[in-house]
Amino acid sequence: MTFKFNMKQHISNTVFYGKDGYQQLQRILDHTKPSKVFILTDQNTAQHCAPKLLTHLSHITDPVMLQIPNGEQSKSIDQCKQLWQFMSDQGADRRSMLLNLGGGVVTDLGGFVAGTFMRGLKFVNIPTTLLGMVDAAIGGKTGVDLNGLKNQIGIMHFPELVLVDPDYLKTLSSEDVKSGWAEVMKHGLIEDRAYWEFCSKMNVNQIINWETIILTSNNIKLKVVQSDTYEKDNRKILNFGHTFGHAIETYRLKKDQSMPLSHGAAVAIGMVMAVYFSVQLTGLDSSVAVDIRARILHYYKLEHFDDNAQKSIEELLVFDKKNSKGQPNFILLESIGKAVIDQKVPSSMYSDAFRFYATGEI
Ligand code: GLY
Repeated sequence: MTFKFNMKQHISNTVFYGKDGYQQLQRILDHTKPSKVFILTDQNTAQHCAPKLLTHLSHITDPVMLQIPNGEQSKSIDQCKQLWQFMSDQGADRRSMLLNLGGGVVTDLGGFVAGTFMRGLKFVNIPTTLLGMVDAAIGGKTGVDLNGLKNQIGIMHFPELVLVDPDYLKTLSSEDVKSGWAEVMKHGLIEDRAYWEFCSKMNVNQIINWETIILTSNNIKLKVVQSDTYEKDNRKILNFGHTFGHAIETYRLKKDQSMPLSHGAAVAIGMVMAVYFSVQLTGLDSSVAVDIRARILHYYKLEHFDDNAQKSIEELLVFDKKNSKGQPNFILLESIGKAVIDQKVPSSMYSDAFRFYATGEI
C-alpha cells in the first residue's frame, strides 16, 4: 500500500497555510475591526515567533502583548485570572480579539481565556509546534488543568482562523518535534494505514517538506471533527492512546516537575498499551502489534514504571473525561486504520500491557 498525498481532501474553511494564512488573518482583521488586538505568547514564542508575526500585523495599531511562562504549569485557573485581569486593565471589550501564538499550552489556555472573557471573544490560533499544528490548535477544544489533572476544566470554543506556518517549526528542538510526532502516528493508526506506513519509517530530524505531513494529519482530524464536533461518538477515536497517555503524563508532572514527560512521549506509551489491549479484545493481529510497538519506540526512550508507579498511574484513570460510571472507555484498533470506541478493558490486563510496553512480549 503506497501513501499518496491528496491535496483535494483539504476540507476546512478555518485552517489556512503560510502566505494564505497571513492574508486570511488580514481579511479577518479588516472585516471584524477588533477594538483591540491581544497577542498571547509564552517566553519562547515571544522571542522566536512574535517578531515574524508582528511583521504581518504592521497595520494594527498597538497590539497588546500577553506573555506566560513556558510549560504545562501555565495551564491553570490562576494563570487565567492573571490574563483576564490584565485584559480588563487594558480595556478589553467584547469586540477585542486574541491571537494565540504558541504550542498546545498557549492555544488551549488562550482559547479558554477568549471563550470565557465577557462570555466569549473571537480568537485566532497560530500554532508554532508540530503538536499544535497537527492537533491542539484545531477542533475547538480549549481548557486548563486542575490540580495537575490534564484538561479537567474547559469549553468548546472555535477559532476564527487557524494559521499554520510550518516556518515556525524551525525554532523547535528535536524533542519538541517528537512530542507532535506521536499525534501524527496516531492519525495513521486510527484512520489511514498507508499514512502510518509512510510516517512510521521517517527520520523526523530530516523532514524538510512538513506541509505533506501537516495537511494529511489536518485532513484526518478535520474529517473526524466535522463528523462529530462535540465528541458524542466517533471523535473519541482522536483520543487513541490518551487514556493511559494522559494518566502517565499527569503522573510524571505530579512526581517531579523538573522531569516531565512530553505529551507525545506519554501518548506513545499509551498507544503501545492500547495496541496490547487491541490484540486481547478487538482482534488486532499480534505480529502487527509487535511491529507497531517497535516502530513507535524507535522515536522514544523506553521509560521504566515499577509496581508503585503502575499503581499510581492506574489510579489516575478515574479522572479520564471519557469514563462512564467510573469505568474508563478505551479506543482500540481492530486493524491499522480501523479504530473502535467505548471499549472496556479489565483492569487485570493493565500490568500485562505495561509488560508488553517494556519487553514486546504478548
Ligand atoms: N485532541 C483530540 C481532539 O481534539 O479531539
